[in-house]
Amino acid sequence: MMTWTLCLTLVAAAVSVVAGGCPFRFKAHGDKCYWVSSAVSLYKDAVHECTRLHDGATMITIHDAEENALLAQEVLAHRTSWIGLSRANSSAPWTWVDGSPYDFSLWYMDDPDYVGGDCALINYYDGISGLWAGLDCSEKYEYYACQVAAT
Ligand SMILES: *[C@@H]1O[C@H](CO)[C@@H](O)[C@H](O)[C@H]1NC(C)=O
Repeated sequence: MMTWTLCLTLVAAAVSVVAGGCPFRFKAHGDKCYWVSSAVSLYKDAVHECTRLHDGATMITIHDAEENALLAQEVLAHRTSWIGLSRANSSAPWTWVDGSPYDFSLWYMDDPDYVGGDCALINYYDGISGLWAGLDCSEKYEYYACQVAAT
């Protein structure tokens, strides 16, 4: 009897791992799975690398302050990283790489043009407040992270 109960418990545990599962090398935080780069990259290479990592994966997108804080502090551990937000030029709108609405922002000094550039990064300034800056897309000194929905 004891063994049967233990067996059921193990099966239940295994099922719950699968239910909240993340692809290989991705880690669960909240309702998404994240993969964080260990090398710096050009923005366009980061976009490509995320889609190559796993079906449906994209660079990270951010839609509220809570998600921003989770990413800035826990997932990225205060490192300055590209996020999946860019624009065609300084008069074009900012767009998320996964096509989701641009409904939240946290620009340093409330100014996306404070530094100057069309690709966005997080953890500009102090790595604690999770502030964003627009940077030249041809810079190659930022980390990046990819996201995919947990299954
Ligand atoms: C900025 O990008 C938009 C959208 O791609 C384009 O229509 C517009 O011509 C561009 N403007 C300049 C000044 O390059």
